[in-house]
Amino acid sequence: MSANPATAATTPVTATATAPAPTSPESSTASKKSSLATLRGLVPFLAPYKPQFVMAGVALLFAAAATLAIPYAFKQMIDLGFGATGSKSTEHIDFYFLALFGVAAVLAVATAARFYAVSWLGERVTADIRSAVYRHVITQSPQFFEITRSGEVLSRLTTDTTLIQSLVGTSISMALRNALLFVGGLGMMFFTSVKLAAIIIVLLFVTILPIILYGRRVRTLSRDSQDRIADASAVAGEILNAMTTVQAYTHEKIEADRFGSSVERAFITAIRRIRARSLLTVLAIVLIFGAIVFVLWLGAHAVIQGSMTGGELGQFILYSAIVAGAVGALAETLGEAQRAAGATERLLELLAERSPIQSPDKPLSLPPRTQAGASLEMHDVTFNYPSRPQSASLTHLTLSVKAGETVAVVGPSGAGKTTLFQLLLRFYDPQQGRILLDGVAIGDLDLHVLRDAIGIVPQDTVIFAADAMENIRYGRVDATDDEVIAAAKMAAAHEFIEKLPDGYKSFLGERGVRLSGGQRQRIAIARALLKNPPLLLLDEATSALDAESERLVQGALEAAMAGRTTLVIAHRLATVQKADRIIVLDEGRLVETGTHASLVAQGGIYANLAALQFHVK
Ligand SMILES: Nc1ncnc2c1ncn2[C@@H]1O[C@H](COP(=O)(O)OP(=O)(O)OP(=O)(O)O)[C@@H](O)[C@H]1O
Ligand SMILES: [Mg+2]
Repeated sequence: MSANPATAATTPVTATATAPAPTSPESSTASKKSSLATLRGLVPFLAPYKPQFVMAGVALLFAAAATLAIPYAFKQMIDLGFGATGSKSTEHIDFYFLALFGVAAVLAVATAARFYAVSWLGERVTADIRSAVYRHVITQSPQFFEITRSGEVLSRLTTDTTLIQSLVGTSISMALRNALLFVGGLGMMFFTSVKLAAIIIVLLFVTILPIILYGRRVRTLSRDSQDRIADASAVAGEILNAMTTVQAYTHEKIEADRFGSSVERAFITAIRRIRARSLLTVLAIVLIFGAIVFVLWLGAHAVIQGSMTGGELGQFILYSAIVAGAVGALAETLGEAQRAAGATERLLELLAERSPIQSPDKPLSLPPRTQAGASLEMHDVTFNYPSRPQSASLTHLTLSVKAGETVAVVGPSGAGKTTLFQLLLRFYDPQQGRILLDGVAIGDLDLHVLRDAIGIVPQDTVIFAADAMENIRYGRVDATDDEVIAAAKMAAAHEFIEKLPDGYKSFLGERGVRLSGGQRQRIAIARALLKNPPLLLLDEATSALDAESERLVQGALEAAMAGRTTLVIAHRLATVQKADRIIVLDEGRLVETGTHASLVAQGGIYANLAALQFHVK
């Protein structure tokens, strides 16, 4: 979580994305929590499914009872069946074999029912957790995505949830089943021979303690292991989105190696966990079987001395086998549970992540619109990005835009133009100053109300892996096809879309790879127009378009600006000339304001910029 993406890219070894910062008291207590306490976080996800749990529980009880009945039937068979003589013996044999089969039939049905109920729970709960985490993550502010790599989140959603699925879908029922067998088997052992059972219970107690203690280690390693997988996914996710750059720089091998070593680290961590768990298994089996064999040895002597029947010892042996098997399985599921606890911890952390940008509890509403366009005011706004506390991206910015006005924002690269838009959309809150939309502080508005009032055409347009129609409709999901086409016409996108192989139904490729830069931009403009917002923010792409698409995009922009308030980050002379007013930003400060002609006459920064960029003297 605390990974700096910059270091992660170059030195993935040290970028332990998830190691809790030692300075944070919250995370250090979290890491001390016992695994069971962590799993308690799953309770809200399990709670809605009480009936399914009851069904699984009933099936489980039946299965355990059937299993425990088998040794008893076995003893009856030996002592009464084989031990007795004559016709009575045949009768007994028939009865007990029939009973044995009946028990097996109950076992079969109960086991199947348990499997169904429990697997259903596992799938259901995993689906719920996936949705909940995704729903939560996509409400996070951009600050979250500056420090969290998307591939990591994806890995959490897929692999971490899979661990929880195996916990809920099998481990819990295995644990319950074996706990029942353990308790029931132990009870039956006491019933068979108090003395032997007492000895065994003391021995078991002594052996289980170290097993539990060692199990803790498995959990830590398990979390490490999941983190390494998330790292690898993050690396792959980033690179797959930049394939053309990777290939143009012929970095295929470098990237493959980088991913390879990331995977290798995941492997090494996994092996450490597996080694720890293997040791746990050895420890458990040797200690427990050692204890049981010792007690059986005592039992064998008891039979020889005649203080116990052969059937009783047989029964005792079977119960000890059940108990030992149960303990072994419990140790195994403990390992599973600890793995899942590691994963749960991570998912719950994601869920606990609170976006610093929240809608107020009692949001104000915007006044009813009386004019075309929204008014905008900024008072003494100072802002630095959270990751750059030392350098302000905007300094003491004061600006007032009337409804319906078109303001061009110009300035050198890095002046803070895009930052200004980020603040208007409330992706970040300024450290100082106020921003008012239609006279209401944007912090007092519901986030959705604020953002619904703003249309944005970003610097790098985003095209989704869908057809042209759906990509434009993203601006307003309930728009009809005709409305979409009208917006496309206004944005000068209709003509080229018509020429695509399937017209509006043409698939644009992931991230719009099947379109040119200018075409992508016009799709983005059409999308913003369809939304028809009172405030439009245009971040003109700096990339040079050819004269024809420049003319088309320009026409589209002009159509977009009509009848609303527009802030346009301008890189083209045509755009600044259309604006009512030009403001010039430099190093986060508003340095000049005026019209094109007055600013050129002033001979300041704008005049310089204009000379360089627009070739105006
Ligand atoms: N997410 C971020 N975290 C930290 N600093 C940032 C972030 N985004 C931008 N900056 C910094 O803030 C300053 C202003 O950036 P901004 O994107 O607003 O520039 P711009 O005026 O839009 O430039 P351009 O014309 O090149 O798009 C720059 O110094 C930039 O490095
Ligand atoms: Mg910018």
